[in-house]
Amino acid sequence: MAMYALTEVTKRFTKGRKEVRALDGVDLTVADGDWLAIQGPTGHGKTTLLQLLGALDRPSSGSVLFDGDDLARLSERRLAGVRARSFGFVFQFFNLIPTLTAQENVETALVPLKVSAASRRERAGRALADVGLADRSGHLPAELSGGQQQRVAIARALVTEPAVLLADEPTGNLDEDTRDEIIALLEGLWKDRGLTLITVTHDSTVARRAPRIAWISKGKVSLRKDDRRAARSRAVTTEPKDADSAAVGGAVATAEQSAAPVTTTEPRDAGGTAPGGRVALPEEATAAE
Ligand SMILES: Nc1ncnc2c1ncn2[C@@H]1O[C@H](COP(=O)(O)OP(=O)(O)OP(=O)(O)O)[C@@H](O)[C@H]1O
Ligand SMILES: [Mg+2]
Repeated sequence: MAMYALTEVTKRFTKGRKEVRALDGVDLTVADGDWLAIQGPTGHGKTTLLQLLGALDRPSSGSVLFDGDDLARLSERRLAGVRARSFGFVFQFFNLIPTLTAQENVETALVPLKVSAASRRERAGRALADVGLADRSGHLPAELSGGQQQRVAIARALVTEPAVLLADEPTGNLDEDTRDEIIALLEGLWKDRGLTLITVTHDSTVARRAPRIAWISKGKVSLRKDDRRAARSRAVTTEPKDADSAAVGGAVATAEQSAAPVTTTEPRDAGGTAPGGRVALPEEATAAE
């Protein structure tokens, strides 16, 4: 069973007499442990989709099944529970509380879970160490670099041990080197912890790290790359230097890959607008794994 199964999802916003169709009939499945990048131009529904996946909002119609529950129909109370237990969020502008230290910011995520103060301290300390910030726990956000603030936000998202990490332009506000560090950190956490990772990005350099890319345009979603098996084998082979071959999973022929002939052509890096790489997808077959 897929972890997420979205069927015929629409989201409409009304502003006065004008209606915006932010999502317009989205069908999508995400399996446990996937890393899906959602890419597309500004204003085409990326954040809206991420908010539905994170139960921060409900669709206007359609269903958003998460582990068998329809997030469109759960009560507010149960939604809040799912949100606190199952999802971690990372945002472009970090969204840390400026008057709290790094340690205290991370601890806030544990408050809804009724964790004791001692255990909050201990778990937050560990989460900060996991993102390489053990020595900055007493710093306020303003006393940290952008990359460090994003690490605190990632620690805050992970301290609850969520099944899914949802990140909206997590590197949108960082320089290139810091961007690469943060992506490497997220990728490492995804590989080591079996997280399901969903990242929204404009940036093709970031998106192509992910084994699956969903392209969103005018509220409609199409999968442009689905390389789950290659990604898994890549974890145990050496990463090719060349970015283009890396993007297609290192072209390492494995038994797994030949069993599932997914062919991808990576879109050329042209600000994410290149049309390349529509993929023939064995979506149903892989979702049923
Ligand atoms: N609360 C709202 N009320 C009215 N319209 C909204 C609301 N939220 C989003 N929209 C509209 O829905 C569309 C999709 O917005 P969304 O924020 O999902 O885009 P996006 O792809 O995340 O863009 P960006 O890359 O700029 O963040 C836009 O046209 C936006 O103006
Ligand atoms: Mg957005």
